Amino acid sequence: MFHSWSAQGLIDPLAVAGAEGSYFWDYEGNRYLDFTSGLVFTNIGYQHPKVVAAIQEQAAKLSTFAPAFAVEPRSEAARLIAERTPGDLDKIFFTNGGAEAVENAVRMARLHTGRHKVLAAYRSYHGGTTTAINLTGDPRRWASDNGTSGTVHFWAPFLYRSAFYAENEAEECARALQHLEDTIAFEGPAAIAAIVLETIPGTAGIMTPPPGYLAGVREICDRYGIVFVLDEVMAGFGRTGKWFAAEHFDVVPDLMTFAKGVNSGYVPLGGVAISGAIAETFEKRPYPGGLTYSGHPLACAAAVATIQVMEEERVVENAAVIGETVIAPGLRALAERHPSIGEIRGTGMFWALDLVKDRETREPLVPYNASGEANAPMAAFGAACKKNGLWPFINMNRTHVVPPCNVTEAEAKEGLAALDIALSAADEHTTAA
Ligand SMILES: Cc1ncc(COP(=O)(O)O)c(C=O)c1O
Repeated sequence: MFHSWSAQGLIDPLAVAGAEGSYFWDYEGNRYLDFTSGLVFTNIGYQHPKVVAAIQEQAAKLSTFAPAFAVEPRSEAARLIAERTPGDLDKIFFTNGGAEAVENAVRMARLHTGRHKVLAAYRSYHGGTTTAINLTGDPRRWASDNGTSGTVHFWAPFLYRSAFYAENEAEECARALQHLEDTIAFEGPAAIAAIVLETIPGTAGIMTPPPGYLAGVREICDRYGIVFVLDEVMAGFGRTGKWFAAEHFDVVPDLMTFAKGVNSGYVPLGGVAISGAIAETFEKRPYPGGLTYSGHPLACAAAVATIQVMEEERVVENAAVIGETVIAPGLRALAERHPSIGEIRGTGMFWALDLVKDRETREPLVPYNASGEANAPMAAFGAACKKNGLWPFINMNRTHVVPPCNVTEAEAKEGLAALDIALSAADEHTTAA
């Protein structure tokens, strides 16, 4: 195996023996509560019997078929997704994952507008393929940044580490929108095809935009004829306590990307939900894009079963309720006890703890993109989580609380208790220690 994003000689991957629900285990008898949902995709947990059965049944019936044909699970998955996406996002183009969804959304936007440039935010992740990685606003872009792919970055709102010296949400919102307006003015509005944003940025830190921001971006896009793309690869399918995060803000983008939670990652699947106006562009004109496995029957059968399970077991509601009644108060209580917690933020099953050396200065517990010795405080925190049976999501100076959306109250409390112990390891590296 050649592993992603890693120096091959410096890693020691855990050998996984099995998984069920919110847990997985190794061959040594260690069992972990998975507060990462894999890479934030097992929204209904591991090995849900109904989804496993649906994949098995589809494999026995028709395990594969070329994308140009109408195949039952493909049509049914598209219908179930389109029924849940906001507004008139009613046509579904299937891909094998999130990055391909972003690639195709950008291609659609460029062809629809006849323009080339695309604006995206610093502090974002959009995938590992050429356009998607160039849109990405984190260090994973640097090695692949070709600077000529027509992508331009700007600062999106994030009050805790404001790029605008704002002191409250209203100021942050107004200044971030003005900054976007200025960026557009200097890049040339008539050259810009799309603005691509994660509705709530995920791996970059779960920064819920302030009220009015996304509506403001929508208005700016309408004014300049720019396609508004919301990337819901991580935030979609129940993660935030709604089917799609856009519902929290009452905005409808022109294109919306999805993947991960659409079928809990049981079989690779992603896609783009397309508005009426953009679908119309390709009514008589061929869309120049496609994938051999677009709408793969096994992946789509898994999506149909996953969406049905999410309805039957009220998984989206569970994410909202456990988020509000267990995770939010639990994290607030941890913040009272642990000086390493600078800020907690999130909603549903989508939470971040911003860990700091000093609460006053907000200096991150480890420097931006730290590795080796400089990253030792976060490594100690991670090791303490694992020692206490919790598999944590860690990115730079943050840990994210992103368990499956059907996590139980008892599991959520078990995870919070393990975090409580592990955060003491982080506290030792603060100025309060
Ligand atoms: C918001 C967002 N967009 C796109 C991607 C890329 O998805 P994939 O890894 O399935 O290509 C990710 C993956 O984490 C993501 O979080």
